[in-house]
Order: sequence, then structure tokens, then C-alpha cells
Amino acid sequence: MTIRAVVTGVGHYLPERVVPNSHFEELVDTSDEWIRTRSGIERRHFAAEGETTSHMGTSAAKAALKDAGLEPDDIDLVIVATSTPDLTFPSVATMVQNQLGMSRGFGFDVQAVCAGFVFALTNANALIASGQVKRALVIGAETFSRILDMTDRATCVLFGDGAGALVIEAQEGTGKNSDRGILSADLNSDGRLRDMLYVDGGVSTTQKSGHLRMQGNQLFRQAVGKLTETAETALEKAGLTDDDVDWIVPHQANIRIIQGTAKKMGVPMDRVIVTVQDHGNTSAASIPLALSVGKAEGKINEGDLLVTEAIGGGLAWGAVVLRW
Ligand code: UT7
Repeated sequence: MTIRAVVTGVGHYLPERVVPNSHFEELVDTSDEWIRTRSGIERRHFAAEGETTSHMGTSAAKAALKDAGLEPDDIDLVIVATSTPDLTFPSVATMVQNQLGMSRGFGFDVQAVCAGFVFALTNANALIASGQVKRALVIGAETFSRILDMTDRATCVLFGDGAGALVIEAQEGTGKNSDRGILSADLNSDGRLRDMLYVDGGVSTTQKSGHLRMQGNQLFRQAVGKLTETAETALEKAGLTDDDVDWIVPHQANIRIIQGTAKKMGVPMDRVIVTVQDHGNTSAASIPLALSVGKAEGKINEGDLLVTEAIGGGLAWGAVVLRW
């Protein structure tokens, strides 16, 4: 018997405030046209004053629990993928646990920046497959607006806030790739490439949270190749190919990266979930947000073969193949 980690619920939360590209024309030397054509972003959401990563993660988790028809105490494990925690510690996951009113289970955070959700999902899958956990909440939640340098036009226009969550549950599978659930994963990192995307502050250096710094065009050159390779490696591990893919659910950083990766994989754009125009880059939240929107729009249906892929600071990158 093979234990599969099957998605049984999905949900998301976006802050009320929508910030159009025109907002940045007043702050820096940029234009709506430049932002749209270079990144595909039209608007993003910014958290309200006092609204935190754990608040957004909790709202997304509540929506996913409702979708799964479960109560908080049905959950054994909470993993939050985030690089923008409320506090240095405790983990956002334990804060979410508390805000959900959970009296059992355990939680921890995973930090792999924009690839965080893929890393979190892989960890949750391992804990389920090994029989240690039956039901997990896997959340991506970020308040990147709080680490943006609003005088740096190369970065401040690209990111947004939000959260998405999945409930995944242990179910019996046959071991074949026709099973529902997570079928394979591929994770990578290369610390030699750290200067391409980092935050210039932290606890053991400046004691301040710092601001996001990015060599966007250097990272762009790495992205399409690495994302295609990791997606195809994950598919191969599951005994599948690009032709088997119903939906690519990519990290939403830049429409040109999304299009380039789909093209290299030979998957047409009408089989790619795209939310970057509405959310901007929400780092670890972007994949679960896209999954939730894709399901709500009726695109993602039970039995569909999905490949999620992401790259971000570290550099860290990876992919997860799952049957919805
Ligand atoms: O989620 C983590 C992973 N992140 C990514 O994958 C992001 C990857 N990178 C990108 O998405 C793109 O590289 C960007 C959207 C960041 C930039 O697009 P680009 O086509 O690579 O532009 P560039 O950085 O090469 O800059 C082109 C020009 C430069 O001016 P010069 O030197 O040609 O005169 C920039 O100074 O555009 C200028 N520029 C801007 N102009 C107007 C940079 N930012 C802006 C801006 N508005 N906001």
C-alpha cells in the first residue's frame, strides 16, 4: 500500500487594499506601461496597517478547512512557508495554530523565499508518506510590502501581499501515477547565487529586518532554464512527461518567465494558471493563491495532473507534481 498526500481543501486571502501600477508613478520614475510590459503585473494587494502574515495565513487556512469540511483540531500539522514572519520567533505556524483555536498538533515555518511553498509541500508530503501525520495545513503567506524599498523602482513595483492554503490528507493509493495526491518533488538550491536576491538586514547582522534587493535581469536569465529543468525532473520522477500535464501552476513573478517556461516545456498558455496580473509577486504565497483561484474559476478539477514550480532567493528552486 502507498500512502498519498491528497489535496482535500484549498483557500486564499487577499488584503482589501488593491494598489494599481499608477500608485508607483507618484513614488518613483516608472510607468504603468513599463510595469505591464516587463512583468505582466497590473495591480497587487497591500496589507492594512496592523494586518500581519499570521492574520492572512489564518484567513486562508480557515477557507481551506471550510473547503475540506474539517475543523481546526482535525489537523495534525501546520507548515507556513514565509520569509516575512510577524516576529523573529515564534513561528507563524504556531501563531496560526493559536488563531485557529487548535489545541493539538504541531507547526513550524519553512523559509525558501519564493520557492517556499514547494519546499513546504514536499516536507508535508514526507511527514504524511512516513505515517507521522494524517492531515496537514500547508500555507504560503507573505507581507512583502513591509520589506520593499519604496525608492527602488527595480523592486518596489513587483511584489504584493497575500496568503493561500491547502489541506492535504493521507489516503491509500495504488503506487501508480494515476493516484490522486503528490506524486513527486524536486528541490534544489545554490548558495553561491545569493546576491541575486536577498534582504539587506537581519537579526544576527543589522538587528533590523532590512529591504529586498534584487539583480532582476541576472535572476531572469537563470529562471526559465532552472524552472523547466526542475519541472521536467519532477515529472520524470513520477514517470510522466510534459504531455501529461493538465495545468502548470507556476510561481507568479513575471509573465515573461511563466511564458518562457511553458514554451520550453511545450505546454500551451491555455494550460497555465496565471494570476500575476492581479497579485504581483507574492513570493511563497503565489502558488497556493494560484491553486485557489484556478479551482474557483473552474479550471482545476479532480484528477487533473498539475506541476507547480518556483524559484527565488538562495537561489532556491523546485517543483512538485500532483494529481488534484
Ligand atoms: O520571485 C523571485 C524571483 N524573481 C524573479 O524571478 C524576477 C526576475 N526578474 C524579472 O522579473 C525582470 O528582470 C524585471 C521585471 C525585474 C526587470 O525586467 P528586465 O526586462 O530584466 O529589465 P532590466 O532590469 O534589464 O532593466 C531595463 C531597464 C533599465 O534601464 P536602462 O539601464 O536600460 O536604462 C532599468 O533601470 O529598465 C529600467 N527599470 C525601470 N524602468 C521603469 C527598472 N525598473 C524600472 C521601473 N520602471 N520600475
